[in-house]
Amino acid sequence: MDTVTTIEDALLTRRSCRAFLPTPVPRAQVERLLSLAARSASNSNCQPWQVHVLTGAAKRALTADLLRAHDAERRAEAGEFDYQPRADQWPEPFRARRRRFGESLYRDTLGIAVDDTTGRRGHHRRNYDFFGAPVGIILTVSRAPLQGALVDAGLFLQALMLAARGAGLHTCAQASLIDFHPVLRRHLAIADDHVVVCGLALGHADEGHRLSAHRTTRESVASFAAFYDSASYDSGVAPGADSA
Ligand SMILES: Cc1cc2nc3c(=O)[nH]c(=O)nc-3n(C[C@H](O)[C@H](O)[C@H](O)COP(=O)(O)O)c2cc1C
Repeated sequence: MDTVTTIEDALLTRRSCRAFLPTPVPRAQVERLLSLAARSASNSNCQPWQVHVLTGAAKRALTADLLRAHDAERRAEAGEFDYQPRADQWPEPFRARRRRFGESLYRDTLGIAVDDTTGRRGHHRRNYDFFGAPVGIILTVSRAPLQGALVDAGLFLQALMLAARGAGLHTCAQASLIDFHPVLRRHLAIADDHVVVCGLALGHADEGHRLSAHRTTRESVASFAAFYDSASYDSGVAPGADSA
């Protein structure tokens, strides 16, 4: 088991793990991770999150139903919230980044051609088995007010993923579960005023699996950060000012 002792280690070693060992994670350990994630900041400390933790027969029953719905193309007509645009409606630069991600995962790691829809579908359906993880978590937040609660949910999710690294565990966030939220609602006591944000697979990585070699890259800080300092202020050029 790798040892993660600093926040920097946790950030640098967190990755979306898509191949897990069946090794169980004790309930007390999951509870500890959840109590750490619950230290996340939230708007006025509202803590709008709820989690549904599945293991054993409960997880197997949910997976069986999710796979049945997936294989029969019984996706919910609408998501519970607007998570992402349709595949052909992504604007740049996100469209190009998504394509690069798809190529690195499917073509370079799994040897599945980008236009091999059957092969891609075969991999995608493994989401519904939580990639073999012993623990499947469904994260929901209060619908009212939704947009701020989604920000809080993101903080909770990241904290949970980093806390897992601190315990030598791995995770994969899974928005793919939103597509089948009616199935989730049949299995779990999700309050009517909550929406499903995503799933999370949790467990020990199968480091020998070829999927465990997959890594993603990031854009440089210069590409997304703007700095305003004394020198730029003194130069008198206001950001966004029309130079004409
Ligand atoms: C909210 C959220 C939902 C995601 N949903 C899925 C998913 O359904 N299936 C999957 O394999 N990966 C999913 N991912 C993982 C992303 O593809 C991954 O975070 C991204 O490619 C960056 O790679 P990394 O996590 O390995 O650094 C999701 C990530 C986030 C944050």
